[in-house]
Amino acid sequence: MAKVFAIANQKGGVGKTTTCINLAASLVATKRRVLLIDLDPQGNATMGSGVDKHALEHSIYDLLIGECNLVDAMQFSEHGGYQLLPANRDLTAAEVSLLEMKMKESRLRNALAPIRENYDYILIDCPPALSMLTINALVAADGVIIPMQCEYYALEGLSDLVNSIQRIAELLNPSLKIEGLLRTMYDPRISLTNDVSAQLKQHFPDTLYQTVIPRNVRLAEAPSFGMPALVYDKSSRGAIAYLALAGELVRRQRANARSATA
Ligand SMILES: Nc1ncnc2c1ncn2[C@@H]1O[C@H](COP(=O)(O)OP(=O)(O)OP(=O)(O)O)[C@@H](O)[C@H]1O
Ligand SMILES: [Mg+2]
Repeated sequence: MAKVFAIANQKGGVGKTTTCINLAASLVATKRRVLLIDLDPQGNATMGSGVDKHALEHSIYDLLIGECNLVDAMQFSEHGGYQLLPANRDLTAAEVSLLEMKMKESRLRNALAPIRENYDYILIDCPPALSMLTINALVAADGVIIPMQCEYYALEGLSDLVNSIQRIAELLNPSLKIEGLLRTMYDPRISLTNDVSAQLKQHFPDTLYQTVIPRNVRLAEAPSFGMPALVYDKSSRGAIAYLALAGELVRRQRANARSATA
């Protein structure tokens, strides 16, 4: 049964999409079966996976409102090696369309139920807002991976996000937890980075990933070729960091599974 992780942070530009694409490709490189879901009307994860968001016959939007089935919307990322439920700006209508629907918070969870066993990991790229789309991701997920830059305001935003996750867990999805906090665009030469990093270690000792993602131009270039960094430049620091993250994530899962059965 797939583990479903929402990659979420309501702050924009913190590396959610970059993490989704590169973590998906790195998990594929370790022989895991992966589905990436683009839940952002910007469609960045779709384009970065090498699928043209302007040429979609069906997207995640049609699936959410029940106008197509999974097979119709499913695409394959040739370079990434994972399957993709793509998005484009049609998805902006979801905020309104979903409001009128029954079980509006569980539409994604229900849509995924029949295919959860086909994958080892399902990663959901969330939009930069605590919107109905993000709520659908959090209701469908087992855990939340939070990418963040080590800046002063990051900590403030983090407490809003943590509160929202707790509320969703209480009301809609009791098994939801924070899977991991990921430091992105990390530059240890900046002293504020080190200060914020130290605070994260103090407050989230168990959830903060040891792996940090450095600022690396290859990670920024790769999406315009529809590739993960692992294919675009496999020896780049960015590609290596995301492979390390995949390793840490898989090890953490194994340790959690062991402690659950112990
Ligand atoms: N580690 C990194 N090194 C260099 N550039 C990066 C890195 N991570 C992300 N970027 C670049 O920073 C920008 C924002 O990253 P990304 O799109 O992944 O963030 P996001 O959180 O998904 O943004 P949004 O909130 O708009 O969806 C992009 O141009 C991306 O290529
Ligand atoms: Mg994004």
